[in-house]
Amino acid sequence: MYPGLFMALLAAAAFSARLAFAAAPVSPETESCLDCHRQIHPGIVAEWEKSRHARITPAEALAAPRAARRLSATAVPPALEGYAVGCFECHGLRPGDHADSFEHNGFDIHQVVSPGDCRTCHPEETSQYAENLMSRAYGNLAGNPVFRDLEHTILGRLRPAKGKPAIEPAAEPTRAEGCYSCHGTKLRVVGKERRTTELAGELEFPVIEGWPNQGVGRVNLDGTLGSCAACHTRHLFAVKTARQPYTCKECHVGPDVPAFKVYEASKHGNLFSSHAAEWNFERVPWTVGRDFTAPTCAACHVSALVTPEGRPVARRTHRMNDRLPWRIFGLIYAHPHPLSPDTTVIRNTAGMPLPTDLSGKPAEAFLIGSEEMERRRRTLQAVCLSCHGGSWVNGFWARFEHTIAETNAKTRDATAVLEEIWKAGLAAGPAGGGSPFDEPIERRWADVWLIYANTIRFASAMAGGGDYGVFADGRYRLNQAVAALEEWHRERRKPKAAGKP
Ligand code: HEC
Ligand code: HEC
Ligand code: HEC
Ligand code: HEC
Ligand code: HEC
Ligand code: HEC
Ligand code: HEC
Ligand code: HEC
Repeated sequence: MYPGLFMALLAAAAFSARLAFAAAPVSPETESCLDCHRQIHPGIVAEWEKSRHARITPAEALAAPRAARRLSATAVPPALEGYAVGCFECHGLRPGDHADSFEHNGFDIHQVVSPGDCRTCHPEETSQYAENLMSRAYGNLAGNPVFRDLEHTILGRLRPAKGKPAIEPAAEPTRAEGCYSCHGTKLRVVGKERRTTELAGELEFPVIEGWPNQGVGRVNLDGTLGSCAACHTRHLFAVKTARQPYTCKECHVGPDVPAFKVYEASKHGNLFSSHAAEWNFERVPWTVGRDFTAPTCAACHVSALVTPEGRPVARRTHRMNDRLPWRIFGLIYAHPHPLSPDTTVIRNTAGMPLPTDLSGKPAEAFLIGSEEMERRRRTLQAVCLSCHGGSWVNGFWARFEHTIAETNAKTRDATAVLEEIWKAGLAAGPAGGGSPFDEPIERRWADVWLIYANTIRFASAMAGGGDYGVFADGRYRLNQAVAALEEWHRERRKPKAAGKP
């Protein structure tokens, strides 16, 4: 039916088979790195040797048939073309751009290889990733005063004080190990240290604050954002790893963002657990039916997918919101996806940097419109439709969008109670200059949207339904929390009412 693509796929298979046996020549610089590092870091060298970077030169990769091309560059600098992508080809790139560049046994190298370096050979992935919310995860948190306040109430130390407890700010190591372990830290060179080594005598290294870290929005020493190693662990950089749900689980496990937990409990997750050993996680493009028969996170959100006869199902994207009409992670309500990956630019009608009002009204000027939502819905549904009938998918979608409306309405009920509490002066809300997150009753309110409403939506979206949507952090807990808020309010109103003649 698609003879051109079919032939291309056959050629691709032949190409992969040939490369499996080929050894790529190593540059003289990398040869020198290997001489020492084979002895001091056998783990690193072994991983690199197994990687495609060690086996395929950019020139060979550029010659691959279109459908099987793993290199998005149309050309790479001539000096890099004919050698394996070795230690020096990454750690020696753009020495002038990295604040952590240092002289090391005769070479100018840097420790933190950044998306700016990967861009040399993988420009499409790098540009797309820059438009993914993940690349902005540091600034979206650290640059938003409302979210910083939430961070402070979660990571800080509660000290007893008169009235309400005071919160002591968390120290840098706590922040780096807390929120910013996933969101990414801001790296900074803070000095140099000398170390005496057995192999090479005294050597000098830069000291980097905020490192090690492989958060998705890390602010790098060349100013670029993110860490490709968040999903492509160094030094294997294997597509096989990125396609496994465990890679995403490192950060998307909840209970506030329980994508992995609901996936694991879903039919898709069950089929992955039962049959992944028979699937092919290496082939590019990933062929539905032949390589796998139930989706992982990557299949629904990232991968280039084709049918066995070569018909395209979905284009690969590192700008993962291509397939996301909604932002289901409620802050505090679910809403259409933001226009810009930099969410600090958003203002709601109260002037706060939040995508909705406290009443749930979306900050429309900063969010995608219905046409774009429809386009993204179709892009994601095309993936479902490679394994499911239209009625199944439409039925699923109607329920999912109902769940968005249902959980937003329940969040509104809880927020209305808290607004009464603030109005009555029983807690200090934002109108009076207080934090909306620090007092015990406000923390109970945050449970409603941050944990329960989000869990219910993730369970619905990722077809994991079941217990996560109901008893485990789902509707059961949500109603308990709303009932507790109402009771707390009712009890505090009593003495006033009784005191009146
Ligand atoms: C003469 C031996 C030698 C050569 C050649 C050499 N290294 Fe090293 N390298 C070392 C030693 C020793 C260390 C320190 C290991 C330690 O303390 O953990 C080191 C450390 C490093 C580090 C980690 C720095 C840190 O702060 O811990 C990186 C990255 C590195 N080398 C990359 C390279 C690259 C890339 C090359 C080739 C361009 C190279 N090295 C060549 C011996 C060498
Ligand atoms: C494809 C690019 C690439 C190649 C090739 C490469 N590295 Fe790296 N290396 C990275 C990235 C990315 C990191 C992780 C930096 C981060 O994100 O924190 C890293 C980290 C390191 C570190 C510090 C990590 C640690 O656990 O201490 C050392 C040391 C290192 N590389 C040495 C080497 C050596 C030796 C080679 C050659 C065998 C090599 N690298 C080849 C990209 C590369
Ligand atoms: C000098 C060019 C060059 C640089 C720099 C480079 N790569 Fe690669 N990359 C390649 C080549 C060549 C391949 C093999 C392509 C093939 O198999 O056809 C590859 C393959 C890959 C793959 C696919 C592996 C697989 O299992 O299919 C990933 C993922 C990857 N690179 C990530 C990175 C990341 C992340 C960086 C930066 C830390 C980086 N690369 C830097 C040239 C480069
Ligand atoms: C285990 C990893 C992890 C940790 C730790 C973590 N987050 Fe997140 N955070 C995520 C993920 C994953 C998302 C995206 C959820 C989604 O899109 O469904 C996210 C998204 C967010 C957002 C949305 C930002 C925006 O505008 O898009 C905020 C705010 C946030 N987190 C706050 C925090 C705070 C505050 C902390 C620390 C108290 C924290 N996070 C700790 C993984 C983490
Ligand atoms: C190191 C932590 C980490 C890993 C690993 C990770 N994520 Fe994320 N992800 C985040 C954070 C943090 C955010 C939220 C960023 C924000 O809102 O500012 C996020 C956001 C997202 C989004 C929303 C993107 C958008 O533009 O709307 C998607 C989709 C996503 N992740 C999917 C995945 C998938 C699929 C994987 C595995 C292949 C994965 N993530 C691996 C931390 C991670
Ligand atoms: C949130 C997880 C995540 C991050 C971060 C990420 N990737 Fe990927 N990447 C994936 C997934 C999943 C795939 C597999 C796509 C597929 O199956 O078509 C992939 C595939 C690739 C491939 C193609 C591999 C092949 O064999 O064709 C390259 C090259 C690549 N990524 C480069 C990068 C670069 C460069 C960065 C940093 C700018 C990056 N990735 C950041 C998840 C990620
Ligand atoms: C069967 C396909 C499918 C699989 C498998 C899947 N997802 Fe999703 N995912 C969806 C759908 C549908 C949505 C909702 C789309 C929307 O937000 O408009 C979604 C939404 C998301 C979001 C967006 C949250 C937000 O706030 O906007 C993240 C993050 C996410 N998934 C991560 C993951 C991770 C991690 C995995 C694997 C553990 C995974 N997904 C597995 C279909 C899938
Ligand atoms: C690669 C194939 C594949 C893709 C892609 C896929 N699914 Fe599935 N899905 C399956 C299989 C197989 C089952 C198990 C059917 C059964 O129970 O007999 C399943 C089951 C389901 C279920 C049943 C859950 C339950 O326990 O009742 C839902 C709902 C579902 N899928 C929705 C979706 C949606 C929505 C998408 C796209 C966002 C999607 N699927 C993408 C293969 C796929």
